[in-house]
Amino acid sequence: MSLRLGDTAPDFVQESSEGEIKFHQWLGDQWGVLFSHPADFTPVCTTELGLTASLKDEFAKRNVKAIAVSVDPVDSHHRWIEDINETQNTRVNFPILADADRKVAELYDMIHPNANATLTVRSLFIIDPAKKVRLIITYPASTGRNFDEILRVIDSLQLTDNHKVATPGNWKSGDDVVIVPSLQDEAEIRERFPKGYKAVKPYLRLTPDPRKN
Ligand code: BEZ
Repeated sequence: MSLRLGDTAPDFVQESSEGEIKFHQWLGDQWGVLFSHPADFTPVCTTELGLTASLKDEFAKRNVKAIAVSVDPVDSHHRWIEDINETQNTRVNFPILADADRKVAELYDMIHPNANATLTVRSLFIIDPAKKVRLIITYPASTGRNFDEILRVIDSLQLTDNHKVATPGNWKSGDDVVIVPSLQDEAEIRERFPKGYKAVKPYLRLTPDPRKN
């Protein structure tokens, strides 16, 4: 069965461009972004891995480790990394799993046979420090992902895990948030949100980002 939000991210041991990875041990107490690409030496994948490398500081700020995966072998990854570094003006600074035996692809349901019988699609999982799956997205081979959106979701998860808020559509870090509908106690609301809130509807209560209080 495929993975769902809240499931424990399957653990595995697999070869990578940076040696053997024991996944849960490698994650440690950090967040993880595990993402598959269809194949090495392909144009869109080259830009995606370059982008991920160039966002290293943004991932680090959020305590996130990135790891890529395709069914290509390690020597292919090593040769391709040289191309990524050369063409994307960066240095690949995260491991690429060499999943030639499809161990990871099968655990995470990354091969969609009606799209492609042998290659992984563009799957991406955000995994929290408790090893729970918190986001699953799947893009077609022809469409590169928006990594700013991945950072935005991580920002939302890290905020909403710690405050009784949720983030509206197109929210970005620092924008107003909504108070979760389950919070109805006005004394607790005043304590948590001293700047107050605007009730557009009883169920739609906007308040400034509580980290700014
Ligand atoms: C690409 O990364 O450019 C790509 C990979 C597989 C199919 C189509 C495009």
